[in-house]
Amino acid sequence: MTQFSHESIGPIEIIPAATALGAEVRCGRLQSIDDTIFDEIRQAWLDNLVLLFRDQALSDTHFLEFGRRFGSLKSAAATDSSRQLHVVSNVSVDGLPIGIQGHGEIVWHSDMVSFFKPPAASLLHAIEIPPSGGDTSFSNMYVAYDTLPRPLKRKLAGLTLKHEVSLNSAESGTGASHPLVCTHLETGCNALFLGSRFNTCINELPRHESDILLEFLWLHATQPEFVWRHRWRVGDLVVWDNRCLLHRRESFAANERRILLRTQVEAGAPPRIAADALERPGHQRGLASIGR
Ligand code: SIN
Repeated sequence: MTQFSHESIGPIEIIPAATALGAEVRCGRLQSIDDTIFDEIRQAWLDNLVLLFRDQALSDTHFLEFGRRFGSLKSAAATDSSRQLHVVSNVSVDGLPIGIQGHGEIVWHSDMVSFFKPPAASLLHAIEIPPSGGDTSFSNMYVAYDTLPRPLKRKLAGLTLKHEVSLNSAESGTGASHPLVCTHLETGCNALFLGSRFNTCINELPRHESDILLEFLWLHATQPEFVWRHRWRVGDLVVWDNRCLLHRRESFAANERRILLRTQVEAGAPPRIAADALERPGHQRGLASIGR
């Protein structure tokens, strides 16, 4: 456990989870933190990939303000903050859903990978949580890459993945392609960038070879050793780094209520792989947790 002292609001504690990623941060009310504390939070986020803050009660405005500390928020219209705030919920009012995503399972993915520049970060703040189900899990894609054999790393370094919006012929060709291995802009470490299990294929390989390789990589990348599972409580705020992890959500009972606020942070640049990727050191968080 790392402890930092700070005069104005007392100590900030970073408590890493006993898994390959994730940390709880204790720093009091997020609307009161100053820039020095935020710098510690940002570093903890880069080190741990996903952070949990308990017992927050943020208004929409304070939630967006905290998101903006990580960078510009993604929005269809940059000047309209209502377009930067989304509700993830299965609840309907007068027959109309108040949010997106329903109550079903959401399988492993990174957010918005069919876009040219997927978001750098996503934040969720829990307003209502069902008594069971709806847990969100995160898998560390640095350690997924770092634990691959070197000949396979060499092969992957030359491959790109096409993220179709859909394999339906009317829409095919509309998604972005990204390197299968991406070098993180801020940490400088490599991560597998698989995006979505569906509607993807490796541009440089015949379809059947692409399917076999992707099947292997997905099994490898989502093994329990690389995963942190979060059981939500009302007031939780979670922020994750979309560039170096996958996440999934479990289903929950359709008649229970689950409401979370969501916002997403723009990436500085599209995903890319560094020319010297094969020479770069691994990211320590996941490697340390599996004793490598
Ligand atoms: C998502 O996949 O972005 C939603 C996660 C959740 O509902 O916990």
